[in-house]
Amino acid sequence: MDEIKVFAPASVANVGCGYDTIGFAIDGLGDEIIMSKRSDSKLVIKEIIGADLPLEPEENVATISIRALLDHLGSDQGFDITIKKLFKPGSGLGSSASSAAGAVFAANELLGEPIDKKDLIHFALEGEAFASKSYHADNVAPSLIGGFNVIRAYEPELDIFQVNVPADLWVLIIFPDVVIKTSESKKLIPTSLSIKDARDQWSNVAGLIQAFNTHDFELLRKSVTDLVAEPVRKGLIPGYDQVKQLAYDHGSVGFNISGSGPSMFALFKNEKAMNAAKPEIKKLYEEMNLPVILHSSKINLRGCEVIS
Ligand code: HSE
Repeated sequence: MDEIKVFAPASVANVGCGYDTIGFAIDGLGDEIIMSKRSDSKLVIKEIIGADLPLEPEENVATISIRALLDHLGSDQGFDITIKKLFKPGSGLGSSASSAAGAVFAANELLGEPIDKKDLIHFALEGEAFASKSYHADNVAPSLIGGFNVIRAYEPELDIFQVNVPADLWVLIIFPDVVIKTSESKKLIPTSLSIKDARDQWSNVAGLIQAFNTHDFELLRKSVTDLVAEPVRKGLIPGYDQVKQLAYDHGSVGFNISGSGPSMFALFKNEKAMNAAKPEIKKLYEEMNLPVILHSSKINLRGCEVIS
């Protein structure tokens, strides 16, 4: 195989209480990457469709991630790469992670799959770290392997486990059209926590995992609470408190910021409940004269996949 086209899904990181440690993949948004082998050792980004991002291989998350993979393998294979972004960078849906994950996945496929899919996370993280100026795997892990992931540890080595996902659960992504750079909004995160807040946060993380495992939606609604990122970041997101209230008024079983925002996620027990909330949320943003994109999805369980 000399050419491949892959899809790398977008993702919701943090999921409320799990700052830098929890993330799930979503359907329908992400990166499409076409990659082909070259006869030399160069990594060449031919085109990026849908976003204005650097083409230089030393400055692009995709090529930085591929380079980390090639260095690990001791390979001098070169690739031509075209990236089509199906959603905007800076939207809080793991844009850089989709590019990093899709790029290492495609390269690994073209090289005959020398590395297990889950282990590709290490290399995608190199690109992600360059883009967001921080070493966090809660977007690259779900984008690569799909599902609901917990980064149990970063050190001494990356340790990730997956949690069951209720089959009926729907995710509504609400994206008001403003840009928030992860590298900037990370600067808002407190550098220490009181023991009381830490206690409440880890109780909520335990509750969130239990809620997913047992499909206990009341527990889910209570546990998605966040004391670390939401209080300092929500002010950057127009209409945050109002849309959160609307989502809960319409039966959402969990609402919070997606990654570093501005996108928000609202979980619903079924599609009917989710669809009932949409017109009210649209109306809210119309009244604010702010464009908003609503995107409905199940949790994506496949992660990166070959599409042709
Ligand atoms: N966990 C990261 C953060 C996700 O909240 O900064 C960024 O998408």
